[in-house]
Amino acid sequence: MLKFDFTNLFSEKVFDNITIEDVKNYEEKINKIANEIDKNKPGFAEIVFSRKWIDSVLDLKDFIFEFDNLVVLGIGGSALGNIALQNTLKPFNWNFLSKEERKGKLKIFVIDNVDPDYVASILDTIDVNKTLFNVISKSGSTAEAMSNYLIARGIIETYGLDPKKHLIFTTDPEKGVLRSIANKESIRTLEIPQNVGGRFSVLTPVGLLSAYAAGIDIEALYDGAKNAYKKLLNPLFENPAALIALTHYLYYNKGRNISVMMAYSNKLYYLADWYRQLWAESLGKKFDKDGNKVKVGQTPVKALGAVDQHSQVQLYNEGPDDKIITFLKVEKFKRDIKIPHVHDEEALSYLQGSKLSTLLNNELLGTENAILEHGKPSLKITFPQIDELHVGEFFMTYELATVIAGSLFNVNPYDQPGVELGKKITYALMGRPGFEEYKINPSSERIEL
Ligand code: PA5
Repeated sequence: MLKFDFTNLFSEKVFDNITIEDVKNYEEKINKIANEIDKNKPGFAEIVFSRKWIDSVLDLKDFIFEFDNLVVLGIGGSALGNIALQNTLKPFNWNFLSKEERKGKLKIFVIDNVDPDYVASILDTIDVNKTLFNVISKSGSTAEAMSNYLIARGIIETYGLDPKKHLIFTTDPEKGVLRSIANKESIRTLEIPQNVGGRFSVLTPVGLLSAYAAGIDIEALYDGAKNAYKKLLNPLFENPAALIALTHYLYYNKGRNISVMMAYSNKLYYLADWYRQLWAESLGKKFDKDGNKVKVGQTPVKALGAVDQHSQVQLYNEGPDDKIITFLKVEKFKRDIKIPHVHDEEALSYLQGSKLSTLLNNELLGTENAILEHGKPSLKITFPQIDELHVGEFFMTYELATVIAGSLFNVNPYDQPGVELGKKITYALMGRPGFEEYKINPSSERIEL
């Protein structure tokens, strides 16, 4: 199980600290919210108590393992979970290993942007003959996913390959252009449950297929997620999701409108990236559920220890009191490196003979304590080790925390109306029929140098 340490959120060293009493005042409200969530189980929680989604992926076993590469084409919630799973649970050199070293599992590439240099460099890397493209889009209409699909399809056809054999669509069971193409052309599909939104979909086939193809134990991911869900109805001080939500909410109300997640692990850094979307899109809202203009939201920021000690921590320690920090720690790394004894220099003696993991975790302790001494609140989540069980637990804990925070802020965590206008202007600029009214007029009063 993950270990959650909330101590430094309540410390009197934090000048605007919240107290145990503050939290207890919300006990009844949180119980009500948690019971409500459990009663109307959200789709992202419901799925982990069923085998349906795992089985839908396992059914494709023979088809998938014929390939060498899996290229995911998607964006936002249709990509970030995949990226987090691969980077957290597979070694960073995975795509450089031979097929034997990968034990027949696939290399995984995620194309989640339309930067031509980026897309081209990935497409240059792969042998299309040995590649399966997984186009992931719940709506089946997102411009970035669709354009990359069209490019992939163009390449497949140029190579004279059968699109049906090199494509799979992960999309809504009924709606969208991907679904209709799949129906017309008998392209294989995986369903995204209709009641699970993009950024909550990592444990649906959205994330499961690439995970399984890379040899990640998807059943253990579910077990971890279930472990987290089981704590939802616990008393408040045994309920990590509720405490994360509530403490962030209380500190937000004290002006701490930035939530930094600082991972002391390159692998866990990708969980912080996933969290960034979840917290931002779910809670950053102009209107509350009653239609009042509230303009709330806590800006999530990701940081990497020890790297960002030399980039961000000066600001965290001495800058404005607008942050609450979450440290991610690994207790036991998969690999470790002992720093060799090379010089008889006193200045280096404290390093020589130590392990890198010891140095990294002591740096975490150093930063954590320095932040406290500077009067700033932080909490710490410790992964006993990085594996499927703990990563699954992390996903579910944060999905629940987000929904609980949504209730505290009284906003709908599942929508994202604020992203629509930019999409419409883009459609207009790209000449999509029906969006002409969104075309922007070049202003003669621009201040451009
Ligand atoms: O969380 C969300 O709903 C969004 O970030 C979507 O995942 C993202 O916009 C991609 O949407 P789609 O899967 O429909 O292509």
